[in-house]
Amino acid sequence: MRKAVELKKAYRLLNHGPTVLVTSAAGADRNLMAAAWNMPLDFDPPKVCVVIDRNTFTRGLIEKSGEFALCVPTRDQAVMVAGVGDCSGRDSDKFLRFGIATFEAQKISAPLVESCAAWLECRVIPEVHNQTKYDLFVAEVLAAQADTEVFSDGRWHFEAGRAASIHHISGGAFFETGEAFAARE
Ligand SMILES: Cc1cc2nc3c(=O)[nH]c(=O)nc-3n(C[C@H](O)[C@H](O)[C@H](O)COP(=O)(O)O)c2cc1C
Repeated sequence: MRKAVELKKAYRLLNHGPTVLVTSAAGADRNLMAAAWNMPLDFDPPKVCVVIDRNTFTRGLIEKSGEFALCVPTRDQAVMVAGVGDCSGRDSDKFLRFGIATFEAQKISAPLVESCAAWLECRVIPEVHNQTKYDLFVAEVLAAQADTEVFSDGRWHFEAGRAASIHHISGGAFFETGEAFAARE
């Protein structure tokens, strides 16, 4: 079940460094791509940053709309994540090509990817220098949701036998998020 995540705890959805899907939409176009280079940036109001290469189709849609979503996929979706990160929405609709189901976001027009573990709806905070020189986008999180099977009471709980989030190494190889442990006595 999807449930809203308190905005000041939204950073916890990305704090462990998952590779995400970036969804975007502008006019009649919609798209998604993979992004390993993302991170939380602030607690309240929550902010994130993500590298969106200038050659991607996604980049133009985000520049037009000023919005994007970060969807946190699981291991079950890894082949699709690698696939959408290896072709461009300029050439074909990746949602159709990869059979990706979506649902409506609450605050932005970009679609959210079904079956992910969490979703963050973001509005770009324009930082022209960072965008132009480093392809780096800073954004405020307007809404956050997570699947209660794996995230509740502000915590991830990926249990054995259930698909967890993924971390890109390179060349289509990933780690799956492992066992959590506490380091405080
Ligand atoms: C696992 C994975 C992680 C990626 N991470 C990033 C990233 O953080 N930033 C980026 O600009 N591109 C990243 N890419 C590449 C884009 O996903 C890729 O260029 C994609 O084809 C762009 O799609 P588009 O042209 O439809 O927007 C990654 C690709 C893969 C497979």
